[in-house]
Amino acid sequence: MARTRGAIWAWLSPLLVAVSLLLLPAAMAGDSESPIKKVVVLVLENRSFDHILGWMKRSVNPAIDGLTGSECNRVSSGDPSSPPVCVTDDAHFVVSDPPHSFEAVQQQIFGSGAGAGEPSMSGFVQSATAVSPSLARGVMSGFPPEKLPVFAALARDFAVFDRWFSSMPGPTQPNRLFLFSATSAGATAHVKEELARGYPQRTIFDSLHADGLDFGVYAESLPCALFLRSLRRLRYAGKFHRFAAFKEHARRGRLRSLSVVEPRYFDIAGAPADDDHPSHDVANGQRLVKEVYEALRAGPQWNQTLLVVTYDEHGGFFDHVPTPATGVPSPDAARGPPPARFAFDRLGVRVPALMASPWIKKGTVVARANGPTASSEYEHSSIPATLKKLFNLSSPFLTRRDAWAGTFEHVVGELTSPRTDCIEVLPEVAPLRGTGAEEEAELSELQSELVQLAADLQGDEAVSRLVAESSGRMTVRQASEYVDDAMAGFLRAGREALRMGLEDSTEVDVWSGLASRTRFQ
Ligand SMILES: *[C@@H]1O[C@H](CO)[C@@H](O)[C@H](O)[C@H]1NC(C)=O
Ligand SMILES: *[C@@H]1O[C@H](CO)[C@@H](O)[C@H](O)[C@H]1NC(C)=O
Ligand SMILES: *[C@@H]1O[C@H](CO)[C@@H](O)[C@H](O)[C@H]1NC(C)=O
Repeated sequence: MARTRGAIWAWLSPLLVAVSLLLLPAAMAGDSESPIKKVVVLVLENRSFDHILGWMKRSVNPAIDGLTGSECNRVSSGDPSSPPVCVTDDAHFVVSDPPHSFEAVQQQIFGSGAGAGEPSMSGFVQSATAVSPSLARGVMSGFPPEKLPVFAALARDFAVFDRWFSSMPGPTQPNRLFLFSATSAGATAHVKEELARGYPQRTIFDSLHADGLDFGVYAESLPCALFLRSLRRLRYAGKFHRFAAFKEHARRGRLRSLSVVEPRYFDIAGAPADDDHPSHDVANGQRLVKEVYEALRAGPQWNQTLLVVTYDEHGGFFDHVPTPATGVPSPDAARGPPPARFAFDRLGVRVPALMASPWIKKGTVVARANGPTASSEYEHSSIPATLKKLFNLSSPFLTRRDAWAGTFEHVVGELTSPRTDCIEVLPEVAPLRGTGAEEEAELSELQSELVQLAADLQGDEAVSRLVAESSGRMTVRQASEYVDDAMAGFLRAGREALRMGLEDSTEVDVWSGLASRTRFQ
């Protein structure tokens, strides 16, 4: 059957080329048509705007709303006699993971645990000190631009968004869910069982698919995108690829409308984590961004491409911009768990956001969103909102949140032709960490969630139970191998689904559908 389809295609494609050539002048004349046909999204882990880009105000671009050096928090936030800890420009690779649960972030934003009043951004030091006094300086530290040369180069050549917030004031997974579905379906924390089951909401991938547009998810190992149940459907099995395939697709001009690149979350000798999560070396995250950019820049689709790089949430690091707390719509009827019963009616802390495209003017700084409502802001739901606009998607908005979020298509809307002077090779990045990977370390929450996902993917109840009971029983090395195997099985299953022509035909997910047939060997 695949053969027949191939033959028809071979016969049809010259015809389609001829037809599209006829239509070309009309398309070029339409002024509402965006030049961007390929969007690439890369989201790193757990760092605030000021921590990463704050000091770029000093030496890269004074228009950036960054740090001046006079931003401080007091050890005891409500007490004017308590000693201040001020921002420094000496961030280095190693800070143990600062607190950033929903409750901790509430204290960081409001200076108290009450979660009421005006956001004062005064409780970061207090929240860190509660964990360990030595963390206080760490959360107030920012990187000097020369330590992040890839970001400094992108900021000089393209655009920094200096008012882009995480979607909710809490940890990784709820924010990652917002990226592609504009809601976390009520999650304010990491709920392992829910993640393993997969969150049920509609996603931007479904909206693209409904209009016949394609996407790809590229990851060296299992991607967090699979925590969205919709992406586990058999019909999407062929959309997942290794990172090497990203470079290959970019080189051959095969990138889809949306490409999602996920970093490596496990730190192994020879395969270092490049997600920027403390204490992983940010030099590796810089190298990942460099590889992604250079692959796009050298590829034949560069003139139609927009690269978006941001961070899921602020990871407990200080930021001075008050998080928007009024006029933010709840995405849907879902509420957080008691006692807070959070209504998702304020945003999280500001995070770094950079964009690159030959259609962006050099040295652009984008501040506040301009509509669609008076209170609109840039946050992760701006990604699905902008995709809907760029690609004129016929599906409705995913939630009330992406209907409200600022869209950024204007950042590629000002030039009349693509720039030809865009930087081709980004700077080399020296390692910041002098020690090797801690392969024997205990798993982080995110790592143990990926192990659980891998266990479910393979129907491995024994490991699933083990992980549900405790995350400390596997080392990072063991977990990494286990998750990599599951990824290999998942990709095999995807190829098998394509071979069997199942991908168009079914709503069933890979678990119940293909797993039983291919057994993931
Ligand atoms: C980032 O923080 C979350 C909590 O928000 C944590 O569970 C996760 O493990 C961290 N990321 C990584 C890669 O460890
Ligand atoms: C992109 O457009 C510029 C200007 O029109 C052109 O010089 C360049 O060759 C194009 N690059 C690619 C990869 O098509
Ligand atoms: C967007 O799609 C609608 C149909 O959903 C169509 O009527 C309209 O012309 C399209 N706009 C553009 C700019 O293509």
